[in-house]
Amino acid sequence: MPSHVSVSNISNYVGQDIILKGWVYNRTHKGKLAFLLVRDGSGFVQCVAFKGDLQPETFDRITHLPQESSVIITGSVREDQRAPGIPGGYEVGIKDLQIVQAADLDYPMALKDHGPDFALDHRHLWIRMQSQWAILRVRAVVMAATRQWLDENGFVEMSTPILTPAAAEGTTTLFETEYFDEGKAYLAQTGQLYNEANIFAFGKVYCFGPTFRAEKSKTRRHLTEFWMLEPEIAFCDLDQLMDVEEGLITFIAQTVLEKCAAELKFLGRDAVKLENISAPFPRMSYDDAAKHLIDLYEKETDPERKELLKFEWGMDFGAPHETEITKLYDKPVFVYGYPSAVKAFYMEPWPGRPEVCKSVDLLAPEGYGEICGGSERMSDPEKLLARIHKEGLPEEAYKWYLELRKYGSVAHSGFGMGVERVVAWMCGIEHVREAIPFPRTIKRIYP
Ligand code: 4AD
Ligand code: MG
Repeated sequence: MPSHVSVSNISNYVGQDIILKGWVYNRTHKGKLAFLLVRDGSGFVQCVAFKGDLQPETFDRITHLPQESSVIITGSVREDQRAPGIPGGYEVGIKDLQIVQAADLDYPMALKDHGPDFALDHRHLWIRMQSQWAILRVRAVVMAATRQWLDENGFVEMSTPILTPAAAEGTTTLFETEYFDEGKAYLAQTGQLYNEANIFAFGKVYCFGPTFRAEKSKTRRHLTEFWMLEPEIAFCDLDQLMDVEEGLITFIAQTVLEKCAAELKFLGRDAVKLENISAPFPRMSYDDAAKHLIDLYEKETDPERKELLKFEWGMDFGAPHETEITKLYDKPVFVYGYPSAVKAFYMEPWPGRPEVCKSVDLLAPEGYGEICGGSERMSDPEKLLARIHKEGLPEEAYKWYLELRKYGSVAHSGFGMGVERVVAWMCGIEHVREAIPFPRTIKRIYP
């Protein structure tokens, strides 16, 4: 009895009979030959039925199989460079085929291009398609590599709460809900504040989970629910934080290159672009970035572009500004020392320059822009309280957070990495909504 083998392992079974369990992705038929492209979750492989080898009714069944029918195939594996599939290069000669279920004939996601709205309405089926399968496999590898690197570098994973009593990243993007007799609760915009408590018990920690922003932005980089990795480190300044980010991102890129070669190839991703992602990354001050942007703005002669590039010191970067900065390098670039006014309340002021804070964003090339945002945190309780008052935040809700600064306060730093942005960049895709299984945006909560 042949054994059940997955497509990802098929190269180990050349010349042998195997059992394949999966779904018919595509079917073509030419005279005495029928070709099925079968997917089993681990990959896509071409299976070939030759009329002369099979019972007439078996061959007939194969030539009439609807797309997405579930099947169990017995067949022999052979190597064939021309065979399509992911990874491709192998073929299964069908000896028997059992239909588990013949799919309905009205499968909505036929193999052709669909408009984005139609595809998103059918996301529950769209994820079966090769491109989406490849992207979401890369996502899983990005997430696993992230955990691996942190676990191997002494970080302890902490689960931070999703239901929280106060804002952490500005009050305008909070999802609100009633919380019994306790008043309002909010979906977490970040786990950072809790991780700042966790480091005083565990030194180096991270949380990794869903994050919520009632973000009105309708850009290709924004979701209302996204996954964020957030490391936080005690006794760590801004420079040391950049070392950590650099190490992690380099490891993620190398792991994706190593483990997702077939997926990247299918997506048409230029591997050289990912090979360039290796530490050290350039580190540029906001001041220098601003100088460069102001220079570009002043030199620009096309009025439309000039409007887009409009910039003066003190502004936060828009997507066109980030793109211009990243054009200077073929790898990610750190921009540090942003104006305090455009960043969150908890960032440590620059020594001698209170209008600037010890913040750092990591910008990815090719127009992907900010993938990580982080900072050194304010460690002085008085300065922090003053900043909380200035922002009009309710002091009571931050009592515990302020208390952290009273008992053994130290310089500490952390950052957040947006998983979907990293995945979109690794895959070279346009929009973050394809980098998560079921995207949530302001216009979409179905399916
Ligand atoms: O820059 P952000 O808002 O930083 C924080 O939340 C900090 N508390 C993190 C920390 O220091 N622990 O978000 C961090 C990253 C961004 O760089 C971006 O990659 C991603 O999270 N991100 C989003 N991704 C998708 N959709 C959105 N609406 C996002 N907002 C932020
Ligand atoms: Mg940010």
